[in-house]
Amino acid sequence: MAFTTRQVGPCFAAEVDGLDLREPLSPRDVAAIHTAMDEYGVLVFHDQHLSDEQHLAFSRSLGELEDSGGTSLREADEFRLPTVFADVSNLDKHQQVLALDDRRRLFAIGNRLWHSDSSFKVVPAKYSLLRAVVIPSRGGNTEYADMRAAYDALDEDTRAVAEDLICEHSQIYSRLQLGFTDFTEAERARFKPVRQRLIRVHPSTGRKSLFLASHAGQIVGWPTAEAMGFLKDLIEHATQRQFVYSHTWCVGDLVMWDNRRTMHRGRPFPVDEPRDVRRTTLVGEGPTAPQ
Ligand SMILES: [Fe+2]
Repeated sequence: MAFTTRQVGPCFAAEVDGLDLREPLSPRDVAAIHTAMDEYGVLVFHDQHLSDEQHLAFSRSLGELEDSGGTSLREADEFRLPTVFADVSNLDKHQQVLALDDRRRLFAIGNRLWHSDSSFKVVPAKYSLLRAVVIPSRGGNTEYADMRAAYDALDEDTRAVAEDLICEHSQIYSRLQLGFTDFTEAERARFKPVRQRLIRVHPSTGRKSLFLASHAGQIVGWPTAEAMGFLKDLIEHATQRQFVYSHTWCVGDLVMWDNRRTMHRGRPFPVDEPRDVRRTTLVGEGPTAPQ
């Protein structure tokens, strides 16, 4: 293997040394990265300073990419980046910081709630690769939680209850938790809920993990209040500090995580400062549940 990994914080996160992501990867490196992802779930690459093209090339060497079109409140003529990127910045297409009351900004505050990327899509995401281009003077960490360790730490009764449950995920549910309900009819149709298993088995490792996200707003067959109470308890359990790694960003960092066994959330930062972070996302293997 041409690179080394060094655990940071809890055992599911590691820094990678010895790889220049601007260069094409050998098949051996690609295989080793997948192996490292199966071991860790979160990999941190420092001092990479990639262009968009290099970021895309690295991502594509690991798998097929998602398109982010239709997943935010940006209209078709408002995109700052091609939709092969998820624009996680607080910037408009003129590189200006979005106004405090801009509904695109308010919608994006949903990223501060614990979630797994694209759990609101029928086929949820595999890896996400987030790269820091401009970061604020303080704040703005991304926190990751290990859903495999959280599953392992559940008591037997809770595991048995959760085993076969199906949840409904929508970005409308996560925003509802923030009191954001300002959706048009077209947006409500676009954000129609999808179904996901609550317990999923990782296709490479065979390990079970909790598939939680703030996008989950229903459990099929359960009264809503009971479902939300149960899911809130699970998220509280799964995000105890011993399961969490908090990443403090430097410009040039690229962090890659496996959405199938982790959750994450952004942390606040000064509202008037630009934060330009760009994400590519690998498509998952398929649906986790019949729709
Ligand atoms: Fe995210």
